[in-house]
Amino acid sequence: MAEFSTNTTKTVDIRTCGINLNHWYVAAQSLELTDEPLEVTVWHQSIVLYRDEQRRVQAIENSCPHRQVKLSSGKIVGSHLECAYHGWRFNSEGKCVFVPYLSKENKLPNCQIVFYPVWESDGFIWLFLGDSKKLQDAYKQPLKIPEWGHLNYIATVSSIECRGHFSFLIENLMDMYHGHLHEDYQAWNSAKLAKLSSNEKRVDALYETESYYKIDKIWSISQLFFPRLRRLHPELLQVSYVYPHWMSTLGKDFKIYCLFCPINKTYTRAYLIHFTSLNAFWRLHKLPIWFRRWIKNSLFGSAQKMLDGLVKQDITMIEQEQQAYLKGSRQQTYEVNPTIIKVQTMVKKQFQLYKND
Ligand code: FES
Ligand SMILES: [Fe+2]
Repeated sequence: MAEFSTNTTKTVDIRTCGINLNHWYVAAQSLELTDEPLEVTVWHQSIVLYRDEQRRVQAIENSCPHRQVKLSSGKIVGSHLECAYHGWRFNSEGKCVFVPYLSKENKLPNCQIVFYPVWESDGFIWLFLGDSKKLQDAYKQPLKIPEWGHLNYIATVSSIECRGHFSFLIENLMDMYHGHLHEDYQAWNSAKLAKLSSNEKRVDALYETESYYKIDKIWSISQLFFPRLRRLHPELLQVSYVYPHWMSTLGKDFKIYCLFCPINKTYTRAYLIHFTSLNAFWRLHKLPIWFRRWIKNSLFGSAQKMLDGLVKQDITMIEQEQQAYLKGSRQQTYEVNPTIIKVQTMVKKQFQLYKND
């Protein structure tokens, strides 16, 4: 791994900092990719996703080499993608395999478009846009989300579309002092930083806090809907930035992930996935699997209102930060939270590592 110099990271502007592409980024939810090609953008690159005959996801550059139109306007034919304009077809390795009006004597054009490693697991589709030689060891697979398929966890997903640099979003997620913003949606109160650690790959912060929720009875899930049923009690809150994604646990009851897809320097997509744990209900675990699966599926999205509400409030703040930055009205902002300072350092270091790799 390349060395990084602290001096250089100081000169990088956090609000225009690039990303380390040698990681897996989330591109879409599995359910977003049906039988049609799907255009996605990851860090300035337009990519078309499609499912081949075996329903495996393929990802190629979203530009027909013939006239540069978007292949996502075309259609899937077997395991190939057919351009809408003249019907040229491309395979999952970005090679042209068919031109409808070419006579038998003529050769297919020797064109090559970029194809990307793609991975589908735990309800999401991931892309690797970096150096394919890095696709080994730690980089071999994207982040695992074991709660997605686990019968004891109820999932809710909220999509984040945010007109702001990704650094504003990760700082928001790692900043446990902005509960002030969320009022009724707030899950915890009075966070106190108990432990902070970081290295090149992650920043971990542990807070002592008071949680509003206690999921110890099956009807406790109604606390997600009715604020007056919530009672404050001490709980530990762990937040981690495992570059380039984020995760958090609040006591034993909640686990949250935020999967990042930075689009460009002023636009960020992400998926926030909230899991409510049913681990406390040992009687439930004795019921037949099909019934437990039915409960899990029926309760999918039970935290939707809370999660969407939180996301909306956070996005408003992040977009205002971005606008203020673009206006350049005040170059200097003031940071007193040591967690945020570590996050900013890591964002810059990861970009520097990518440039030096
Ligand atoms: S532009 Fe795609 S086939 Fe002509
Ligand atoms: Fe927030």
